[in-house]
Amino acid sequence: MSSTTAIDQEFFTRHAESARRAEEARTLFPGGVTHDARHFEPFGIVVDRAVGPRKWDVDGNEYIDYVMGHGALLFGHSHPYLVEAVTAQVERGTHMGGSSELELRWAQAIQRLLPSAEKVRFTSSGTEATMMAVRLARAATGRDRLLRLRNHFHGWNDSVFAAGRTSAGNIAANGQPQAMQDLIAVYDQTDVAGIAKALATGEFAAVILEPTGYSWGTCPLEPSVPRELRALTEQHGTLLIFDEVVTGFRADAGGAQERLEVRPDLTTLAKIAAGGLPGGAVVGRADLLDQISFDAGGGRVAHPGTFNANPLSAVAGERALRAIAEENPNAVANERASQLSRGLNRALIEAEAPGCAWADASMVHIILGQDIDRPADGETWDWGQHGGPQSTLPVTPGTVAWPFRRALLNHGVDLMGMGALVSCVHTEADIDATIDRFAAAFSDLRRAEVL
Ligand SMILES: Cc1ncc(COP(=O)(O)O)c(C=O)c1O
Repeated sequence: MSSTTAIDQEFFTRHAESARRAEEARTLFPGGVTHDARHFEPFGIVVDRAVGPRKWDVDGNEYIDYVMGHGALLFGHSHPYLVEAVTAQVERGTHMGGSSELELRWAQAIQRLLPSAEKVRFTSSGTEATMMAVRLARAATGRDRLLRLRNHFHGWNDSVFAAGRTSAGNIAANGQPQAMQDLIAVYDQTDVAGIAKALATGEFAAVILEPTGYSWGTCPLEPSVPRELRALTEQHGTLLIFDEVVTGFRADAGGAQERLEVRPDLTTLAKIAAGGLPGGAVVGRADLLDQISFDAGGGRVAHPGTFNANPLSAVAGERALRAIAEENPNAVANERASQLSRGLNRALIEAEAPGCAWADASMVHIILGQDIDRPADGETWDWGQHGGPQSTLPVTPGTVAWPFRRALLNHGVDLMGMGALVSCVHTEADIDATIDRFAAAFSDLRRAEVL
């Protein structure tokens, strides 16, 4: 069969209830989904419940899950730690309408892992955190312009948003005022010379980046780049903002900044920082954060927000960060991710399919359908050694990605784009089962002649 018909037929057969719900969703939600990254064709699976590394859809199909709450769940779904902490808090109040002890402990848990967090301001999401970080930088420097890197994602607020590519597809800047776009300069993530020239103009309030490369490292960034950006920003009176919404407490217990040994002026956090519940924070230099203080008088930066430091997020965040500090779940998740990427490379070789996989901490990235360097034995792979830094790493084209993901869903694995976010509760057996399911999906694609 020379099309993906067999894969698609099976997808429809296995997901009839999801199809029905998706039809209803189209009448309620634009495009039928509630997040751009959930857009999928012919429709996305509708998930009923999730525990540990697994989830089940409304048709009763079981999946090994690598979306992991868009990267928010280092401990898998509904970890007993978090269920216990959140359940106890629900009974004690879900909004105190005032300050709480919980936010103190949550902020201290962040500081314990992230020494650059001299002061902390909680937000409700990563988008709000980047918005506040840029506002603080503008207020502190008296400059309006922001320098950001192409395809790096910082949420959808007008201050940092730029058209480009994410792991969820292309995004346009429609609806973002031209005046806001004009304040944002976008440079290729390897164009350090161009960035140096731009910063020398003295116009830029801040440089913001995903420190491991765009879309949580889908296109990896050579570590020398953030280090050079640290030196350049210091030289030109520009602030350096690390967006660690994904990498915070995942790239390392102390985030990408610990691994890179770079101390940014400001860091944005969310996802794992809030224990997988809604919540975020902007943290960093005390003098910058203190612009929010009422002591700053007429020059202060305003920051209300009904759900800032919400008690449920506070207890979940504190509990997750305490476990990260004391139990090293990162080491387990990282080991499983590397087991997964090694196995996927072996499976690709066995299937004689072009592509490769690599792991960065507990984040696994997969490229399919394109010849790309990988070690012959499939045992070890390090992007730095085998590809070097590139600004245009080939990404799996849509003609392969979606049929592949449909095939993989048919076999019971769900991915985040073409990547896998691994938790500390994925077992070795889960990873072995995942590799087998990938191999089955590769065979389906080979049969369909799309790989
Ligand atoms: C690097 C990065 N920054 C910011 C955001 C926005 O965070 P949120 O979705 O919580 O608004 C995301 C979301 O995925 C992200 O990946």
